[in-house]
Amino acid sequence: MNIPQHVAIILDGNGRWAKSKGMPRNYGHVRGAKNLETICRDAWTIGIKYLTVYLFSTENWKRSEEEVGALMKLFRSYTKTCMQLAAENNMKVRVIGDPSAFAPDLRESLAKLEESSKDNTGLNFQIALNYGSRDELTRAVRRMTKDAVEGVIRPEEISEQLIGDYLDTAGIPDPDLMIRTSGEQRLSNYLLWQLAYAEFYFTPVPWPAFDKAELMKAIEFYNGRERRFGGLKEEKS
Ligand code: IPE
Ligand code: IPE
Ligand code: MG
Repeated sequence: MNIPQHVAIILDGNGRWAKSKGMPRNYGHVRGAKNLETICRDAWTIGIKYLTVYLFSTENWKRSEEEVGALMKLFRSYTKTCMQLAAENNMKVRVIGDPSAFAPDLRESLAKLEESSKDNTGLNFQIALNYGSRDELTRAVRRMTKDAVEGVIRPEEISEQLIGDYLDTAGIPDPDLMIRTSGEQRLSNYLLWQLAYAEFYFTPVPWPAFDKAELMKAIEFYNGRERRFGGLKEEKS
């Protein structure tokens, strides 16, 4: 079986899952965060080297104050759990998105999480927090323009490679497979540049119920696709 090197997940459906159990939305988020711990381990066992998950979008601030507050609280505790998880499982964690909107203590914990795991050689785990592709591209263009004005780069040097280097995902290979749980079939501003050639897998299963068997189904789907990159089919091994 051909295992995708990089899997990107839009973990959706926490709220609906909780509602179906007669529970508040936040219970879904708590269980969703717990499931993430399991999936990280499973991904590595399966042979996935990079896993990127969408935890909070630049649009998610529009949710109720109560829900945003509960999510921030959850991110605080998740960051601590993740620090331990990274140490135990040799995971290298990187935060993508713009953390400047978060409270100083959360920003600090996120920076610590990245710093403490930066030399780990296991799963490369990217968490997208206050992430939006358009925001990422806007920030990249801003920095690139500043560098051009200051003479650090010349406009004729701007290439696809250089643009990639200015994105939050610099140095990380593009995802091969994108999974969205819970039935919606849209990207919701996720990795628009990076997903140019990824295979897309949509499942009705809500995130808290997405387990290793479901992940294997996504990988089987990926194996059934003919990988093309505009030209010839990639050789299958
Ligand atoms: C995904 O679950 C988690 C976040 C976006 C924070 P949702 O909260 O979007 O759950 P649904 O889609 O409303 O069921
Ligand atoms: C996308 O899910 C963002 C995350 C999973 C963090 P949403 O539930 O926020 O997206 P929409 O609103 O359905 O597009
Ligand atoms: Mg949703």
